Amino acid sequence: MKFFVDTADIDQIRELAETGLLDGVTTNPSLIHKSGKNFLEVVRDIAAAVAGPVSAEVVATDHAEMMREAEILRKIAENVTIKVPLTIDGLKTCKALTSDGTMVNVTLCFTANQALLAAKAGATFISPFVGRHDDIGFDGMQIISDIRIIYDNYDYATQILVASIRHPVHVLESAKIGADVITAPPAVIHQLFKHPLTDRGLETFASDWAKTGQTIA
Ligand code: G3P
Repeated sequence: MKFFVDTADIDQIRELAETGLLDGVTTNPSLIHKSGKNFLEVVRDIAAAVAGPVSAEVVATDHAEMMREAEILRKIAENVTIKVPLTIDGLKTCKALTSDGTMVNVTLCFTANQALLAAKAGATFISPFVGRHDDIGFDGMQIISDIRIIYDNYDYATQILVASIRHPVHVLESAKIGADVITAPPAVIHQLFKHPLTDRGLETFASDWAKTGQTIA
């Protein structure tokens, strides 16, 4: 499973990229706003910091204007992935861009039927939002299971990119279902490394090792 980070914070992206475990980055207009930086500049910086796909979202709602914005965004770097909303105009844009060899991430997906449409439009990635589903009392992960079944039934190449991840259990469930990618906030990715027994075990090993008086040389 690929790991993307869902942020426009370049320092956090660089720190995670150093682990060698980061496969890509997703941004959205809210994350760009949070970064306080210029959209095109921040996408340029991120695309230079990671080798994998970097999602940059169009803000227009009509097809022609989405295409115009996508043209600007995709020129930034080869690894820029154009993010479009799951609307008729968004999927028209997806079809046009992917037919031309550009990677497209279809976002704001909340049903398996929407994911089916995105696959038919040739999407590189589909982004179902699990956390926002959970927030309103539904089981977001059920949609991931349904999409997995549907995509496997028809051998769709569209990658399931689980988005709106809120905690490590979302990551675990995504991996068990066989999602292709997760995108999580930096804090959730950092949580994945942690376990109190790992910390405690390390302390014990360090203290016992000190008692041996040895060094590795
Ligand atoms: O980038 C899309 C998605 O991950 C947003 O997550 O936490 O705003 O629902 P959230």
